[in-house]
Amino acid sequence: MDREEILNKCREVLNRGKEEIEKVVNEVDFENWRIKFLGRKGEINRLFSLLSSLKDDLKPTIGKEINEIKNTLISIFEEKKIKIQREKTEGKFNLSFPGKTPFYGNIHPLTKIMREMSEIFERMGFGVFTGPEIETDYYNFEALNTPEDHPAKDIWDTFYLDYKNKILLRTHTSPVQIRVMEKIKPPFRIVALGKCFRRDAFDASHSPVFYQMEGLMVDKNINFSHLKGVLNYFLKEMFGEKIKVKFSPSYFPFTEPSAEVSISCVICGGKGCSTCGNSGFIEILGCGMVHPQVFRNVGYNPEEISGFAFGMGVERIAMLKYKIDDIRIFYQNDLRFLHQF
Ligand code: DAH
Repeated sequence: MDREEILNKCREVLNRGKEEIEKVVNEVDFENWRIKFLGRKGEINRLFSLLSSLKDDLKPTIGKEINEIKNTLISIFEEKKIKIQREKTEGKFNLSFPGKTPFYGNIHPLTKIMREMSEIFERMGFGVFTGPEIETDYYNFEALNTPEDHPAKDIWDTFYLDYKNKILLRTHTSPVQIRVMEKIKPPFRIVALGKCFRRDAFDASHSPVFYQMEGLMVDKNINFSHLKGVLNYFLKEMFGEKIKVKFSPSYFPFTEPSAEVSISCVICGGKGCSTCGNSGFIEILGCGMVHPQVFRNVGYNPEEISGFAFGMGVERIAMLKYKIDDIRIFYQNDLRFLHQF
């Protein structure tokens, strides 16, 4: 073979390589093309093998020519490879599309407020307990010094699951006091959080299901000042240093003396408005010194120890804190409301 013949062959291989790569549509064609032109027994290597039939002085220039063709075919090959890969993914994914923001849920406002309440009490050394939502008459009423014929039982309009066997949905978290005292010995301080149930209408300020937080501290020489100190600290942490806290006499069968606690109105700051009924104060919880009979019911000796207890509605705290005027909004799962917390 002479120089011209080999050079013609070189040009012919390059042109065919370019032509045939245009026809490649899938990975199989692509691999066949590679084997045909760049493979061990491919066209390029065949060109190299022709070199031996040339005169020695021609070998370097022709060899260089073949190498250039080889490099051109390699870059054609690489370009096509990228194009094929792009086409493969583009059918499925449009990478230029804007991304979708993932949907984040958030903590329900009542959960949030309950965590905040627990944290405040935990800072004062209170442990957090729970108790069953289905209770017996004994724990919900009797052990709390509210026997069958006690007139105060009317305060709690009860859902009975089994009236004959006196099984009911607890009307308050106070039965947890009894369950805790049956289990552990003083001194202790605990809070209990959970759902309560009452036969109430579902309106702006009532719900048949609601949450309460109960508190109980028992030790030697606990007196009303301890109760005032603890609740003052809690309410100021919750509603701010500026609020005023007022204790007024009240009645509960399980405490003596009993009190109700009000804070200066968070809406009008104490001047008087429709939320506080122009009184400047809003009632927020019930409390008192644990009744000696309650201690006797759990086997404690009221001569040796004393204690205080309190109970408050979680929704009420949340409504005052977030300035919400309808309790029903907590249970409607309207994301526009829930996303604000
Ligand atoms: N259990 C009462 C209620 O639901 C609230 C309460 C008042 C709880 C005084 C107490 C307390 O522990 O000492 O109305």
